[in-house]
Amino acid sequence: MFDHRGLSSSKPLAHFPCTWKNDCVPRFISATPDSRLLPFPWDVPLENWPVELLVALPRGLSRHVVRFIQVGDSVYAAKEVIKHLALHEYRLLQDLHRLNTPAVEPVGIISERRDKKGNPLDPILLTRHLEFSLPYRALFSAGVRQETVSRLLDAMVVLIARLHLVGFKWGDVSLSNILFRRDAGDFAAYLVDAETGEIHTALTTGQREQDLEIARTNLYGDFLDLQAGGLLREPHDPLRIVDTIIARYHDLWDELTRVEEFPGTQMYRIEERVRRLNALGFDVAEMDIETTGDESTIRIQPKVVDAGHHMRRLMRLTGLDTEENQARRLLNDLDTYRFGTGQAHTDEAVVAHKWLMEVFEPVMQQVPEELRAKREPAQIFHEVLDYRWYKAQRESRSIPIVEAAKGYVHDVLQGLPDEALSSDALVPVTDKGLVNPFDPSLGYEDDEEEPPYDPWEAAAEDVLEESRYLDIAALRARAAAKYP
Ligand SMILES: Nc1ncnc2c1ncn2[C@@H]1O[C@H](COP(=O)(O)OP(=O)(O)O)[C@@H](O)[C@H]1O
Ligand SMILES: [Mg+2]
Repeated sequence: MFDHRGLSSSKPLAHFPCTWKNDCVPRFISATPDSRLLPFPWDVPLENWPVELLVALPRGLSRHVVRFIQVGDSVYAAKEVIKHLALHEYRLLQDLHRLNTPAVEPVGIISERRDKKGNPLDPILLTRHLEFSLPYRALFSAGVRQETVSRLLDAMVVLIARLHLVGFKWGDVSLSNILFRRDAGDFAAYLVDAETGEIHTALTTGQREQDLEIARTNLYGDFLDLQAGGLLREPHDPLRIVDTIIARYHDLWDELTRVEEFPGTQMYRIEERVRRLNALGFDVAEMDIETTGDESTIRIQPKVVDAGHHMRRLMRLTGLDTEENQARRLLNDLDTYRFGTGQAHTDEAVVAHKWLMEVFEPVMQQVPEELRAKREPAQIFHEVLDYRWYKAQRESRSIPIVEAAKGYVHDVLQGLPDEALSSDALVPVTDKGLVNPFDPSLGYEDDEEEPPYDPWEAAAEDVLEESRYLDIAALRARAAAKYP
């Protein structure tokens, strides 16, 4: 059944309508075949699929017909697209996955489709729906604040730089082709549309600049649209926003790849560079170090840089799979626990296990099943820590973590909109007067109501200091103060 068998498009068709018993079946290409896909009506254009099969989740703008379908407990995104593009995108997404780059996960392609009359239909590319992801309009519809925009820009810049580091030229950077997930106080960005991408061994400066030029044009248009729709208000200015993206990209790229030269007496600068990259969330897997003949000058350049420094460390210690900034926050809490409980000299892995049992798990146990679709566990933990901090400030006492978790669930989590695939979010699409029934982020027809209020976002905005995540100048200054 999954033997890559199928009809070549030139082969005459013997029987109609198509059934699994005759030779007229579509062809499934997948690394992980899934028999639950068989009963779907592949002989019907995606646009005309019965709504009972579809799931309404927010999504960005698209050229192709894109629908979300539920397959068992999973939700897949289905995109109808011509064959060579479907294959190209499928392979690129597989490559990106192998290279550990944030992108949606490919599931398979259904090709050689024909309708009931035997006319060919375009293949469908399936990707796994990225859980807890937010298309940009879901973020902007809440009336976006300057700090949020700044954090979204940082996430985009990191994504573009990470793709460039692995030799991926995107060719179509745009807001609709990026998904965001919460990452502690920041966001993490994922690639969702690889159709125009190319993988090279390494990108030349010219290729990177070309990609940035496309990004600039597309994003400028996207931000102008948002502005025209009243979603981006003063003091945001589309031109300034895109300039910021390009400037931050160049700063980050420079820090990641620059050649540095210094006298042989300043060997500490190698470690300093590594620390700075770690602070930006990157690991140096290989550093090129050269000395001149008399060892008076040293030249260093990071050769292999991987993102996810803290994420990998947390994963190693606890098995928790998180975003980078969530990992930083959890590791900080783990350190606090370690020193606070007098275990500074105990093996780190042992302490990490105890922290999981005594701190992390008890917090998660406070979250009722029905509220779990609102945030990822690591994000909940991060928000509980913040909640505890504010409460402690207000009440001038230290708050036990479980008490904070209870308060957070009651005061914050209950009121938050769903961001994942809760059973509530999975209600089949019905004709309730949505502007577009397959894209609830567009709201209801004649809907004059304000978008849902997200109390967490609002509270976080009041207190968040200027994001230092990508402030390379500040990192350099701090390092310089440390090693004068
Ligand atoms: N795997 C996925 N998870 C979450 N959202 C997705 C996924 N695939 C597609 N989408 C949503 O559908 C939209 C359109 O998909 P995309 O691949 O960009 O189509 P197109 O090639 O037509 O532009 C995206 O902006 C995104 O919001
Ligand atoms: Mg797209």
